[in-house]
Order: sequence, then structure tokens, then C-alpha cells
Amino acid sequence: MKVLILYSSGYGSTKEIAEKISAIFAEQKAIQTTVTSIDNVNAIDDYDGLIIGSSVRADLPLANVRDFIVRERFVLPTKKVAFFAVCLAANCDHGRDEIKKNFIMPVFSKYPEIKLVSMEAFGGKIDFDKLNPVMKNLMIKVLEKTGLPTAGSVDTRDWEFISSWAIETRQKFLGE
Ligand SMILES: Cc1cc2nc3c(=O)[nH]c(=O)nc-3n(C[C@H](O)[C@H](O)[C@H](O)COP(=O)(O)O)c2cc1C
Repeated sequence: MKVLILYSSGYGSTKEIAEKISAIFAEQKAIQTTVTSIDNVNAIDDYDGLIIGSSVRADLPLANVRDFIVRERFVLPTKKVAFFAVCLAANCDHGRDEIKKNFIMPVFSKYPEIKLVSMEAFGGKIDFDKLNPVMKNLMIKVLEKTGLPTAGSVDTRDWEFISSWAIETRQKFLGE
């Protein structure tokens, strides 16, 4: 089975999660994985399954991911597809549920023929020192809702949770 893992990542934390998921899928000999930025993908016909990962900005998955889903809306229903979002608000069960309900499901509800095998939201990472003042202020507003620190490096990625999701999704891809 060939699985393509696509990510859209501004600062690299979503890319690192995509690479972790790819490594977990590749532990199974029956699976060949390719992991790449969604901007580099040409054709998806060769793949049996796709995992699409997007970071969240201003309460939406990134535009290149939304464009990809629109572009491939007739091909995606013929594949096994899973989706994950990465953002700071998904640092707890309640936050994850909100992200899934308010930001992931609306993207896919327009295309009911795309049946997601699995979807999840993962906590993200931000380095305040790398942000320009506009982005920094935006982030401070986002973080007010979460109670997380608003300076330095904040990493809420839960690698155990991510790994469990990857193993569970891999089993679903293999039909186990
Ligand atoms: C400009 C900007 C806007 C963001 N907006 C949100 C948001 O609306 N909700 C949220 O929970 N996190 C938000 N974040 C946090 C990112 O989703 C989080 O840092 C994520 O891990 C970034 O992924 P990346 O490293 O792959 O770019 C935002 C980050 C930036 C830089």
C-alpha cells in the first residue's frame, strides 16, 4: 500500500508531526510512505491512501490545504484519507473537539463523498521570538483562550497521543 503524507506548515511543527506519522506507518512492511509539503505534490493517482496535515491560522486550516481538497475532490473519494490539524487550541480534549467540530468538519462537509477514515487535532508549537509584531499580537489573542504562556517557546505537541493516533489510523488504512 502506498501512502502519501502531505503537510502545510509555516514554522515546521506540522512538518515534524507529518514525519513522525510517516515513520510510524513505515514500520509496517506492507506500507510505503512518502512525506512532502502539499505545495510539492503533483499527481496523487499512484497512492492508495493520503494523510493531510495542516496547521491552523486565524481559525482555519491553511489556504493551500483547502485549495488542494477542492482541486482533488473527485479523486479523494477513491482513496483512504485521514486529516489532522495542528494548533495551540488543540492542547486539551475540549480544544481538540472544538477544532474538529468548527474547523475540520466544515472543510469536508462540502464534499460528503470524501469519507475520512480518521481525523484529529493536535497541539502545536510557537516560538514568540520568531514572530513579527503583528503575528505576535494575533497569537497573544489566540492564547488568551487557552491559558498558555505568551512568550518564549511554547510546545504543546503530545507525541504519545500523536503516535497512538498514527497507529490506530494505520490499522484502519490496512483494514485491520
Ligand atoms: C499567524 C498565526 C495564526 C495562528 N492562529 C491560530 C488560531 O487561530 N488558533 C490556534 O489554536 N492556533 C493558532 N496559531 C498557532 C499555530 O497553529 C501553531 O503554532 C502551529 O503549531 C503552527 O504550525 P507550523 O509550525 O506548522 O506552522 C497561529 C499561529 C500563527 C503564526
